[in-house]
Amino acid sequence: MKFAIKNTSPIKTVTDCLVIVVFKNGILSEEAEIVDRGCGKAITKLLTNNDFSGKLGETALIQNIAGCRAPRVLLLGAGDRKELNAKSFIKAMRNALQTIFATKAKNAHFAFSNLELNDRKTPWVTMRISQEAEDLCYVYSATKSKKPAIKSLKTISASIGTRRQIKTLETAMQKGKAIGNGINQAKELGNLPGNICTPTYLAEYAQKLWKGKNKVKVKVLTEKQMRRLGMGSLLSVSAGSSEEAKLIVVEYQGGKKNDKPHALVGKGITFDTGGISLKSGGGMDEMKYDMCGASSVIGSMNAIITTNLNLNVVAVIAAAENMPSGRATKPGDIVTSMSGQTIEVLNTDAEGRLVLCDALTYVKRYKPKSVIDIATLTGAAVATFGSTVSALLSNDESLASDLINSGQKSLDPVWQLPLLDEYQSMISSNFADIANIGGPRAGTITAACFLSRFTENLKWAHLDIAGSAWRSGSEKGATGRPVALLTEYLCSQVAK
Ligand code: BES
Ligand code: MN
Ligand code: ZN
Repeated sequence: MKFAIKNTSPIKTVTDCLVIVVFKNGILSEEAEIVDRGCGKAITKLLTNNDFSGKLGETALIQNIAGCRAPRVLLLGAGDRKELNAKSFIKAMRNALQTIFATKAKNAHFAFSNLELNDRKTPWVTMRISQEAEDLCYVYSATKSKKPAIKSLKTISASIGTRRQIKTLETAMQKGKAIGNGINQAKELGNLPGNICTPTYLAEYAQKLWKGKNKVKVKVLTEKQMRRLGMGSLLSVSAGSSEEAKLIVVEYQGGKKNDKPHALVGKGITFDTGGISLKSGGGMDEMKYDMCGASSVIGSMNAIITTNLNLNVVAVIAAAENMPSGRATKPGDIVTSMSGQTIEVLNTDAEGRLVLCDALTYVKRYKPKSVIDIATLTGAAVATFGSTVSALLSNDESLASDLINSGQKSLDPVWQLPLLDEYQSMISSNFADIANIGGPRAGTITAACFLSRFTENLKWAHLDIAGSAWRSGSEKGATGRPVALLTEYLCSQVAK
């Protein structure tokens, strides 16, 4: 989709659909007022007929108002003007977009000149117009023989902010578009089935995506190369699978040559059967989503690369398939990680931490400024948080608070759990340095404790996105979270 800032008078705007805002109790926004006056009070008449009250998210599509250049005018309810904030704005915005998508309009104009939110400035609002439009545009079709109808809407413009701000707002719009596209990439990779989206597929996807791209280098390590590095833990997960594991490394040099990078590390289990500790059958298809950490890393990297962010970032994706077979790792097996620590694999279904620990050790060679791993790691995170927030655990309070802030700002929230030393004894083993499970209690925390054994001396945070990365039931599908959070976090690190 294309986006533009166009500070025109609403009544003269050349567009297939003009969106104007009406507040609670039929109070017209300044631009709605202009349209109303120019069109013989057509809007006021509609409001007195009581068909539209202006409550938040309400929409009414009016065709061919005499005196208005646009063939369609969409009234958008924004509720109480004084209470309009980021969340309520998004709700209204999404309803407006859905209504426009249902028409044949090829372009639409949002008359938002005087729209002010309680808790956000104009560039944020502008960014979210394009981000939400791209996000809502997404339809899965890759494995359907009948392709869904292509949406008519191709261009969105907005009158917003002041003339002096135009450059800033155009940049914000492009940023929102890039984030929206990143979210959609994450959704698409997540939704693809396990027989298509294999570790090799992910590796080739990354290579093709950034092939020949300035400032970007993609390296893919094979199992043989990983064996040479001593990644016995990661390799123990793919041992039962016929799909080769891959370590995908993406280096982006957007900042100064000698600046240390920030690092993202993604769990990329392209299907998690549980291995020999086999999962029960119900809903097991959803374990194709066990690579959503990896897909969110790819989507976020692409968002910052397309906007040419001034920052060095390295991404490491541990991609593998977890399968039972005659060659699979068995409960009780002991493996040696790249760090040298030995691990007793008490449950082969706790495989995410086994691939992540070697990826985290690998990333140390970059001496990263911060490391964030993103993983669909524990069912316990789903039980604790449902789908609303992602779990956050960290060994560094300033990093944790940066992530909490970025989550609030991007509306992609996280909630911190304690990573206290008291939990560490739960993963001790009689036969190895550590066990890969900590028993039935505090599952999200003991999983993070395991990872913390590999991140000493790093400024590190762990995001457990098991509940937030996809939806189940009739709305089943990947959400693209936490791409918005990660890109917001990385953007916030540029100034530092
Ligand atoms: N990928 C799963 C976690 C998961 C389960 C995410 C259900 C979303 C929904 C992970 O590999 C796993 O199986 N974790 C186990 C760990 C346990 C064996 C300690 C779990 O949470 O049950
Ligand atoms: Mn598992
Ligand atoms: Zn898993």
